[in-house]
Amino acid sequence: MASSRGEFSSRLGFIMAAAGSAVGLGNIWGFPTQAASNGGAAFLLAYLVLAFTLAYPALMAELIIGRHAHANAVGALRLISIGPKTRFLGTCSGSIGFIVASLILSFYAIVAGWMVALGLSSLAGLVGLSDLSQWLGEFGLVRNIVFMLIFMGLTIGIITGGVQEGIERWSTRLMPILLVALVLLVAYVLTLDGAGEGLKVYLLPDFDQIFTPKLIIAALGSAFFSLSLGVGTMLIYGSYISDKENLSVLGGWVTLIDISIAVLAGFLVLPAMYVALHNGVEIFTASGALISEDTLIFTVLPELFATMGLAGVIVSVVFFVLMSIAALTSSISMLEVPVAYTIEEHGVSRRTAVIAIGSAIAVCSTIILFNFETLFGLVVAITTRYSQPLLGFVFCMYAGWVWHRDNLLQELQKGNPGAEHTLFWKIWPWYVRLVCPIIILTIFVQSVIG
Ligand code: PHE
Repeated sequence: MASSRGEFSSRLGFIMAAAGSAVGLGNIWGFPTQAASNGGAAFLLAYLVLAFTLAYPALMAELIIGRHAHANAVGALRLISIGPKTRFLGTCSGSIGFIVASLILSFYAIVAGWMVALGLSSLAGLVGLSDLSQWLGEFGLVRNIVFMLIFMGLTIGIITGGVQEGIERWSTRLMPILLVALVLLVAYVLTLDGAGEGLKVYLLPDFDQIFTPKLIIAALGSAFFSLSLGVGTMLIYGSYISDKENLSVLGGWVTLIDISIAVLAGFLVLPAMYVALHNGVEIFTASGALISEDTLIFTVLPELFATMGLAGVIVSVVFFVLMSIAALTSSISMLEVPVAYTIEEHGVSRRTAVIAIGSAIAVCSTIILFNFETLFGLVVAITTRYSQPLLGFVFCMYAGWVWHRDNLLQELQKGNPGAEHTLFWKIWPWYVRLVCPIIILTIFVQSVIG
């Protein structure tokens, strides 16, 4: 079965694809802006702790279940179920996962479209097409729809190619470019006046904020979103890993790359904000709060680039290309969730599934764009604040309680015969059984009632 459904050709291929999924707008846009408005280093600290202690074990739950079943989330949860109730719950959770993945893609494609448009806007400005540059840079309905469609077209094109020819090939091409662009940008921004102030905010914790529920909820949400958890993406990528691979090491690499890139992006965005302040761009409101955190990147950064002359144009192009690449390697992993489900559960061809589902998601994005004020924030909150942690919880419960411990060990031993003697096996099983579900639930309840 495994060979007919595609498999990553190498360890590097998987790491690039999974890190590509994980590293996205969440890291380069979400994490730094959240850090900026939640006490800088205090947020960084909470994020690091939560990512290693909660998100990594939850990621492993998805990877192990996926690799064992070599199937989509619905098929996989059913396979490890022990009776009609858990089978039913598995079918429901897997199905909700594919709906949530599609909804995330429907808002993600909109934001990614902005990135492509803003990059092109800077390019158009560079070659003197100022009208075009202005149109591309402004928040208009037509521009938003056109660029959402372009971005969805790219995502559909890659996913039509399948696991090796599509996901793996493009992730291994794009991820190194992303890393180089990010490092160059950080190096450049850190040389500018005002950057030091941003570094201080990023690296010196504001201890008053460190244990506030708001900060912890934001950090957990950020870590879950950033590692692409709780929608079945990592489960489906896990299902394409060969049985020869050592899963805990692969998962560790993906977590490490994801966290490092988020932290690195913080070294770009926070210093850039203070460079902007230094150059006279307004970044705080009269009350001292940060200007609308969600739009920070679209307002503060372009204004900053504008104060930097020619260098600003080049930096701007590189920055938005970086954002577009990060978004694309993530969006393909979102589309793969409903596509894999439809191919495997309904026997549809990949091409048909990709085109039908991709088009349906584009329609959802268009509806969101037409009702932006009411729908955008709502879809983001429902999917990322509520559904992702809850489904992450369900995956942990299946790995920790439903699935038999011996089978778990057997799965790990496939790629690592000495798995039972590893530190991972001493800690992870009870962690995913008790610690993860309890903490996820506590934080979730806090976020609902708080
Ligand atoms: N991890 C991606 C990011 O950081 C977002 C994502 C969420 C991707 C869920 C897939 C599934 O931007």
